[in-house]
Amino acid sequence: NKTLLITGVSSGIGADVARLARFHGARVIGIDRNQPSMTLDDFIQVDLGNPTAIDAALAALPEKIDALCNIAGVPGTADVELVGRVNYLGLRHLTEALIPRFNKNASIVNVASVLGIEWPQRLEKHKALADTSYFEEGVAWLKKNPVPQETCYQYFKEALIVWSTQQAFTWFRDHGVRMNCVAPGPVFTPILGDFVSMLGEERVQKDAERMLRPAYSDEVAEVIAFLCSDASRWVCGVNIPVDGGLASTYL
Ligand code: NAI
Repeated sequence: NKTLLITGVSSGIGADVARLARFHGARVIGIDRNQPSMTLDDFIQVDLGNPTAIDAALAALPEKIDALCNIAGVPGTADVELVGRVNYLGLRHLTEALIPRFNKNASIVNVASVLGIEWPQRLEKHKALADTSYFEEGVAWLKKNPVPQETCYQYFKEALIVWSTQQAFTWFRDHGVRMNCVAPGPVFTPILGDFVSMLGEERVQKDAERMLRPAYSDEVAEVIAFLCSDASRWVCGVNIPVDGGLASTYL
């Protein structure tokens, strides 16, 4: 049976991936700042915005891992530094620390967003951030290259997509580990309401007119589960939108 690590396991999409993985017989280790309501094989409470807390949690995590689902995230209504720490720097910190523990054919899935699709405009910035080599160096780079509060969520989801695609091939070649992103459109989860305050009524209304409906979190979880499974063993370094076609309507 596969061993899966799932961050953001206590709510929304992460909780649904955990349910699905357990249904398929996987051993599920959850990571979150909040306690989960479901029973898991193990749960470690960690603030993923804090690299010292992540390092302290490593001893409690398994030595052999088949999949890491990086799902935890905060909306752009949170403070810009927190958004950078949780949605990007902490995710990278945890993933890099776990690289030696991945079994051959293991899989990493990072949850980005449909809002992270404008990265070509800022590619050079995202590449420079990706080139910072550890958490505090990333924080220092961001102090020199400040990110506006209004677009910080988009910015760090873009940065995540750029880092994931840039890093994926080397890890696949050297460690046999695949890394991919999933980019949901709006999903019925507790943070959906925060996106209304973050994007403004007008944009949300415009999106609502273009979509049939927001996704249910299990519809996103199924794609994450596919990327964790051996069925996707030749899929590496891509970002898969799971948005009911929303992004395509912006072309
Ligand atoms: P959610 O709010 O239901 O779940 C987020 C989980 O992350 C929670 O369990 C929370 O406790 C955890 N978390 C937040 N900050 C943390 C920290 N510092 N340390 C540890 N855990 C932390 O939201 P949802 O929708 O399930 O979000 C999952 C991912 O999907 C996020 O990365 C989000 O940005 C992304 N997403 C969500 C969309 C939506 O409409 N719901 C749309 C596009 C992307």
